[in-house]
Amino acid sequence: MGAEDGSKTTLTLGAGVEVPTLGLGLYKAPPGERSRRAVAWALAAGYRHIDTASLYDNEADVRVAIEQSGLRRDEVFIATKVWKDDMGYDRTLRACERSLEELGTDHIDLYLVHWPVPESRDDTWRALQTLAGDGRARAIGVCNYTVGHLEQLLSWADVPPAVDQVELSPFLQQRTLRDYCARHGIQVEAYSPLTRKRRLKDEQLRVVAARSGLSVAQVLLRWAIQHGLVTLVKSLKREHIEEDIAALHVELAAADMDALDALDEGFRVAWDPTDVE
Ligand SMILES: NC(=O)c1ccc[n+]([C@@H]2O[C@H](COP(=O)([O-])OP(=O)(O)OC[C@H]3O[C@@H](n4cnc5c(N)ncnc54)[C@H](OP(=O)(O)O)[C@@H]3O)[C@@H](O)[C@H]2O)c1
Repeated sequence: MGAEDGSKTTLTLGAGVEVPTLGLGLYKAPPGERSRRAVAWALAAGYRHIDTASLYDNEADVRVAIEQSGLRRDEVFIATKVWKDDMGYDRTLRACERSLEELGTDHIDLYLVHWPVPESRDDTWRALQTLAGDGRARAIGVCNYTVGHLEQLLSWADVPPAVDQVELSPFLQQRTLRDYCARHGIQVEAYSPLTRKRRLKDEQLRVVAARSGLSVAQVLLRWAIQHGLVTLVKSLKREHIEEDIAALHVELAAADMDALDALDEGFRVAWDPTDVE
């Protein structure tokens, strides 16, 4: 499963599918040239995992950038998500068809439920099981599921989720969820690992960055990677895209990991699913 193993550039999901550890995220990457350029720079820099969503409205740009990169479709891992408005069994199947068309592919590497909507998440999961069964999705997973949501899903699902994609940084470490997922073979994916820049000036991060010779962004990414998390980072700037992927090939000392492990304070920048039934 790769938990707590930061030495690899890919991790293997429960479904047997290999996922590149670091992915370029495209939340709020505007459709068109800016998204296309970011994906092109990322592919040129060595990223092989793109995390998009129908909500982000840039799936077509992912397609164009991959087509123009000269890489084969099977060299790039594409994750996308079914949004709240499209949930339910039939609606999800239709949403997947639209995403496949936008992405210009006959399969998605990882198809995710974007949000644990109480009324429709089970029917949505049934649709994802269908998509996994017929190969339109190589792996299926969830986002923003708490331990409670996962327990409920595991109590009836035929196919367990391969991943849970949640907000995760040294300031929001999700330890109970990580332990639960490790016990159940669910790979945790960390989103907003840079806290959307909100904590990049944190004094302790700066100390660790200075001591380790890395940028603060690299420290945050390396911390997540070294904890065995699939890590999704967004940038539209070439220099940041290149800086961020270098985090795959550095190492934080145990004392620096300990210092970051001590920063947990429940700080969130994105949606909080804690009270979702
Ligand atoms: N499933 C979900 O519900 C969900 C929710 C949120 C996010 N996500 C996924 O996770 C991805 C990442 O999360 P996020 O976009 O919320 O936040 P994030 O990756 O923590 O932060 C992104 C911000 O960091 C900046 N940045 C990137 N590299 C940098 C560097 N080396 N130095 C300084 N600044 C840097 C970027 O600006 P520049 O463009 O200026 O570099 C961007 O504004 C998303 O794009 C999305 O794919 C999923």
